[in-house]
Amino acid sequence: IEGALGAGPLAGRRVLVTSGPTHEPIDPVRYIANRSSGAQGTALAAALRDLGARVIFVTGPASVPPPVGVELVRVETAQEMMAAVTAALPADAAIFAAAVADWRVANAAGSKMKKQAGGPTLEFAENPDILATVSRMEKGRPRLVVGFAAETDRVVDHACAKRARKGCDWIVANDVSPGTGIMGGTENAIHLVTEDGIEDWPRLGKDEVARRLAQRIADRLA
Ligand code: CTP
Ligand code: CA
Repeated sequence: IEGALGAGPLAGRRVLVTSGPTHEPIDPVRYIANRSSGAQGTALAAALRDLGARVIFVTGPASVPPPVGVELVRVETAQEMMAAVTAALPADAAIFAAAVADWRVANAAGSKMKKQAGGPTLEFAENPDILATVSRMEKGRPRLVVGFAAETDRVVDHACAKRARKGCDWIVANDVSPGTGIMGGTENAIHLVTEDGIEDWPRLGKDEVARRLAQRIADRLA
């Protein structure tokens, strides 16, 4: 492993990776979450490390363990992830693989809610868009900002629109419809949307997708 020798194409580069879901509390014992396992973000962080990068790995509560040999920052909520990302910058590249909750519960309770007829009424507030915030930084923007787009239909259309809306350089898009087995699985089939166009990659193990993406990132930063 080149990274272990302080060598490799990303030696001396600082790369931020977000990964995993976020948990948005409802009360001290309940939360809203999503099905992200953190597998692809974790594999990508490991692959970047193996190419010699110094990796800051900001992760929500994932179901796979974090890689070794990275700077680990554990967070729970989207707001905590935003703060951790801001604190971790500057970086040469920032890769946003996390499945950030779009909304948090605005009226989260400080003590456990008791069962009541009709159930509680939750109010929602929009979370900060971390990828868009970093993509649009006027000072100190990473040279390469990469977003992910997990979609269930019109994957490439949504990804291209998302890339424009967020202002990031690349989008890694995939189809996470239940039939694909990608969410929570070991394989991934991605479409890489860059300034040069769209590449449809074959279905590969998430580790192999990670290695190929890491090499692309290294080429881009070279
Ligand atoms: N993202 C983020 N902060 C958020 C929401 C999303 O950084 N609050 C990042 C994700 O990590 C991902 C990219 O933005 O890299 C796209 O996330 P996605 O949920 O697909 O985008 P949204 O704009 O939230 O669109 P959608 O309505 O499809 O959820
Ligand atoms: Ca979203």
